[in-house]
Amino acid sequence: MRTQVGIVGAGPAGLMLSHLLHLAGIESVIIDARSREYCEHRVRAGLIEQWVVDLLLETGVGARMKKEALFHDGIYFSYSDGLHHIDFRKSVARGVAVYGQQEIVKDLIAHRLSDRGTILFEATAVKLEGIESGKPKIHFEHGGKADVIECDFIAGCDGFHGISRPALPERVARHYDRVYPFGWLGILAEAKPVADELIYAYHERGFALFSMRSESIVRYYLQCAPDENLALWPDGKIWAELKTRLGGEAGERLVSGKILEKGVTAMRSFVCEPMQHGQLFLAGDSAHIVPPTGAKGMNLALADVCVLARAFADFYRKRRRERLEHYSATCLPRIWKAQRFSWWMTQMLHRFNFEQDFDMRRQLAEIDYVVNSAAARTSLAENYTGLPMESVWRRGIAWHRRLRLLRTLWPRMGRRRH
Ligand code: PHB
Repeated sequence: MRTQVGIVGAGPAGLMLSHLLHLAGIESVIIDARSREYCEHRVRAGLIEQWVVDLLLETGVGARMKKEALFHDGIYFSYSDGLHHIDFRKSVARGVAVYGQQEIVKDLIAHRLSDRGTILFEATAVKLEGIESGKPKIHFEHGGKADVIECDFIAGCDGFHGISRPALPERVARHYDRVYPFGWLGILAEAKPVADELIYAYHERGFALFSMRSESIVRYYLQCAPDENLALWPDGKIWAELKTRLGGEAGERLVSGKILEKGVTAMRSFVCEPMQHGQLFLAGDSAHIVPPTGAKGMNLALADVCVLARAFADFYRKRRRERLEHYSATCLPRIWKAQRFSWWMTQMLHRFNFEQDFDMRRQLAEIDYVVNSAAARTSLAENYTGLPMESVWRRGIAWHRRLRLLRTLWPRMGRRRH
């Protein structure tokens, strides 16, 4: 099989990259080890920054999101039994949208398939070959048979445990890593939301988060051990612990319901530099992981592929390699700022050392400062709603919009020329 860009991984990064490449008339093939059903129902975080809302709409995959997403103007902090609202719109004139990652995945898969894109599910990548040559290959297994994709470039969008990052030679890749001494126990449940916007709760027993997916589906998280045994958490215990940790006002209002799904996520911060070597480009979780406290994971993955799609388009249209060569350097400054923000939210809101009263007092003072200082609220709002895109990215989106318009006027435009 031959294509221009071989993409490993059908998560938000791989699918959006393939979609953007299609808009630019560039062919790609996506492979993923999981089934379509699995990819579409994998429960993950679900908060998107304003520019991602715009990206989905401007590239024609945002219709369902526009109807079903919940648009939020701020968040709450709960601590010392009080509930305090931070109004992002007042500080930075923008908000965020709650729309599950798996919904974005469903929308992108549907669009790719209706645009006759190729996605091979249950196709396991086993080896990347020749990434330093002009003709790299992805070896994979599909339906019990070995197969190969020959391409010009490989996009490694296969997550933290995928085969793409380890394909970067040890001498070129440097890893920056921090593992946290806790995880999150997450539940998805049928219940009424406890508030109109998310609640980040600090409690002496540990962090808790209220989030939602719709007016009848809620998502809650509890700080737990990184290897927490779910068998020790019957439903009743989870609801009781949430009530305690959400604290006074929010705890009183908590409505329990049927738990649809339970899971434990370990927490880490991780960056691989550079995010490219030869013809291989990493995007999303294969290159960087953030703890979920800042809800940045999917937003960063989508930012990577905007830069990458633009760079591929420059290459195929003008044979210019500059944007490809600068891909990693373009992405990393914003990635590190999101790393800093996610770490900051995490260290402020979790109990690291249950014996240290000093740290607890210090954390409470920090949250209280954020709630009561206009400067601190603005800084939180600016980061949480998404730092401005570098001008190259903003131009990138405008460029996709122009391309779409041109393609509706002249449908043959951008098709591959042989
Ligand atoms: C979620 O809705 O799953 C979610 C929201 C905000 C976070 C993390 C997860 O910070």
